[in-house]
Amino acid sequence: MLGPPGAGKGTQSERFARTHGLPKISTGDILREAGTAGTELGRRAKLTMDAGELVGDDVMIGIVGERLKRPDTVLGFVLDGFPRTIPQATALDALMEGRGPLVVVDIVVPKDVLLRRLAARRICGVCGVNAPIEWTTTCGVCGGDLVHRTDDSDGIVAERLKVYHRQTRPIVEFYKARPTFRKIDGNQPPDVVTASMDAAIREASVAAPGGVRL
Ligand code: AP5
Repeated sequence: MLGPPGAGKGTQSERFARTHGLPKISTGDILREAGTAGTELGRRAKLTMDAGELVGDDVMIGIVGERLKRPDTVLGFVLDGFPRTIPQATALDALMEGRGPLVVVDIVVPKDVLLRRLAARRICGVCGVNAPIEWTTTCGVCGGDLVHRTDDSDGIVAERLKVYHRQTRPIVEFYKARPTFRKIDGNQPPDVVTASMDAAIREASVAAPGGVRL
């Protein structure tokens, strides 16, 4: 699942993974959990994330490589936030050897909409879940207080968008000639995005060489 910060990668990955009974692997969530647990990786990653920069490729490729060894990924998985650089995309191709087709979905949303979404976003300060609009002050899952994500402040968002254009956008070029690449209009209500994503992924999965029917 590709797209700039605030495009809806996390929201849509969660929905697709739940509907199809697949694990959702979010590298941002893995890093934030490590930060909350206070591990050495988590402490270092938090400094990088709070500056709006990317964690190093070797670390990220190692994390995803280990996660993909777990048996729950055998029938497929949803990747949210990885790959984010050309070296990560190249490493993912190697990790996909012997697996089903890699379907790549690029969620496209105009910059002014991204900025509005990130300024408005609240997450649970305890369990980290994204808060839907109807939760006002407390989390509907665990009762924790709702807070801003530390990297959603104006200055950091501007840096994240710059980093996205410099380091992540080039991977759209890397993938776009492949038969399994699809673009989705993410500037629509979440349910409409979910439906178009589901249709696009089904169609791309079947059309791919060695494709599978979802
Ligand atoms: P990560 O957590 O992946 O953040 P991100 O890519 O900046 O993406 P966001 O979580 O901000 O947005 P999203 O596209 O998931 O949108 P969401 O669904 O949440 O990464 C954080 C940091 O970790 C990185 O900056 C980097 O430092 C590090 N990192 C992670 N992976 C890495 C890697 N591979 N390599 C190196 N470093 C890495 O939606 C956003 C908001 O919009 C929500 O409030 C949501 O409710 C709302 N919304 C969603 N869809 C819609 C819609 N259709 N209409 C209206 N509102 C919507």
